[in-house]
Parts: sequence; structure tokens; C-alpha cells
Amino acid sequence: MLASCQQHSYPVDHEQLSEEERIVIRFSHVVGEDTPKGLASRKFAELVKERTDGYVEVQVFPNSFLYKDGEEISALLDGDVQMIAPSTSKITTVIPEWQIIDLPFAFETKEEVREYVEGPVGEVLKNKLKAEGIYPLAFWYNGFKQMTNNREPLKHPDDFQDLRFRIMSSEVLYEQFDLLGAEARVETFDQVFPVLNNEELNAQENTFSNIVNKNIHTVQDYMTVSNHGYLGYLVLMNGEFWQNLPDEVQIVILDALDEVTEWVKELAEEVNEDAYQELMDCRCIEIHELTDEEKQLWEDAFLPLYTSFEQRYGELYINHLPKFKMDH
Ligand code: LMR
Repeated sequence: MLASCQQHSYPVDHEQLSEEERIVIRFSHVVGEDTPKGLASRKFAELVKERTDGYVEVQVFPNSFLYKDGEEISALLDGDVQMIAPSTSKITTVIPEWQIIDLPFAFETKEEVREYVEGPVGEVLKNKLKAEGIYPLAFWYNGFKQMTNNREPLKHPDDFQDLRFRIMSSEVLYEQFDLLGAEARVETFDQVFPVLNNEELNAQENTFSNIVNKNIHTVQDYMTVSNHGYLGYLVLMNGEFWQNLPDEVQIVILDALDEVTEWVKELAEEVNEDAYQELMDCRCIEIHELTDEEKQLWEDAFLPLYTSFEQRYGELYINHLPKFKMDH
């Protein structure tokens, strides 16, 4: 249908068609609309609508409105939604090897993360998703994570002792804190503010953008700018749904995603810079920027995580990390 419409320069007003006659893609995510992912998913929906003249409609459901973390992936597999864009840390419940991205200080820049994800090891990781019926379409940026807590400034690895961190569902993240004598508990993103607010937990890690978006800074007293781990997203589609899309629609989707991915690359940086500025301006959270010496101590403390990852999942993933690649 799309092909014929393209040939005839879209004579039909597709918005008049019913949902059964159009292609509707339900896209669920857990963050607010003004975050990098919120903005990227909306732009993607606009581009697709524009380029198919309304024949393909991407309906975006932000803020865990439809599904929370944990529920999202089953909803995708069950076909209740057709697209999601979880952080790589959350995909690890299906393919644990994706935890490689969570290894602290594995990447220095967002380009390094993207190169890894788009490179040969990323291909192996993506094929594992395809084998589970999940089609990976793109990698979207957010930013580097920072540590917050409400006890003391975190400078030295010993400072983490007995803090209680909220984490995303990834064993590497659990071990990251366990190694430093802190507790870690998996909580869905919508629960971060409540559990910090009622002091069940007293610490967490996230990007500037997510900290501001969820008002985390209003319930945490200290933030260390550590840039220790990257938070990025895999844009995923239900594999069967993808296979059944007409070729023309697949092409429109891939082109639109390419454009949005480049767009969100710069935008994510701006959104995070603005959020950092807001955190500095609010004077409501004490900010410490990790020094090079402190960073070295953290890196040393986290080294056992690399060994345990390698033992569990093999050296392939580790050897291709930019920090080790240079030695080969
Ligand atoms: C989190 O749970 O902290 C983040 O993954 C939320 C998000 O999607 O950015």
C-alpha cells in the first residue's frame, strides 16, 4: 500500500484510515518527555508520520505509562508493544553479556560506546537479541552516570561502605557496589524517587538528565561527578513485527532512526549540560568533581569486576573494550 501511495505521491489521507488499515507502532519507554530518549522517540514518530503521510503511526507512551522496567521486555516479546528503548543495563535480563557496557570506566567517551556497539562485538551481542525474537534497530545516547547519596561526599572507595544504592537490573552494577561494601537493590525507574524519598535507600547512580527529570537532587544531598559508566539505549522492535513490515516501511524506519540517532547524539549532551547547570544553580546538592587521583583509586578498586566478567562470559567482550584494544 505504501509503495503504491509513494508512486502516486500519497493521494490518500492516511489519517482518515482506521488503526486496522494503517500500521500502528506502540513505543513504550520509562522516562519523561524532555529527556534525550523522550525527545528522540517523539522526533522519530514525527519523521515516520511525515514520510509515510500518516500510513505508519508511531504512538509514544513515555514515563512508564504503559509498562515499567522489567515489564517492558515481556510486553515487547508478547507483542503488546512493538518498540521499546531500554538502557543497555536492562537488556541484561535477556542477554547478560550486554552488562559489558556497565563495567565502570570501560569507556571514556560516548563515541567509544557507539563504536563498540556498532563494531564486531556489538554485532555478536545484537545477534543474541535477534535469536530471542528482539530486533535491535539503533543505539541512542543519554550520558555518563554520576553518583548521588545523602550521607557524605563520595571521594574515596571507602566512602561507599554501607550505603544503600538503587540500581538497574544488572549484576555488574550489583557487584560494582558490593565490591565497595555498599548494598545494592534493583528498583524500577519510577520507584527511584519514592525509595530515596522515604529513605528505604539512600544512594543511586544516574545521568544529570535523569537526576533532574526525576527530582532526585531534591532528596539527595551529595553528588560526585564521576562519569564512571555510560547510560545509553537500544532501540528495539519485536522481531516478528519487524519481519512482517513491508520493505518500504522498514526503509523509512531505518532512515528516520539514522537521522534521530545523529540528532540525539548532540542533543543528549546539551540536555545533560543544562541539567548539570540546573544542579549547580539549585544549591540544593553538594557537588564534588572526582579528581584524577581519586578516579585512579576508583578504577583500581573496580578492576576485579573485569576479571569476574571475563571468567563468566569470555575474553572476547573485554578484549574489544577501547581501553584494552590499544594494548593488542
Ligand atoms: C534508569 O532506570 O535509571 C534509567 O535506565 C532510566 C532511563 O531509561 O534512562
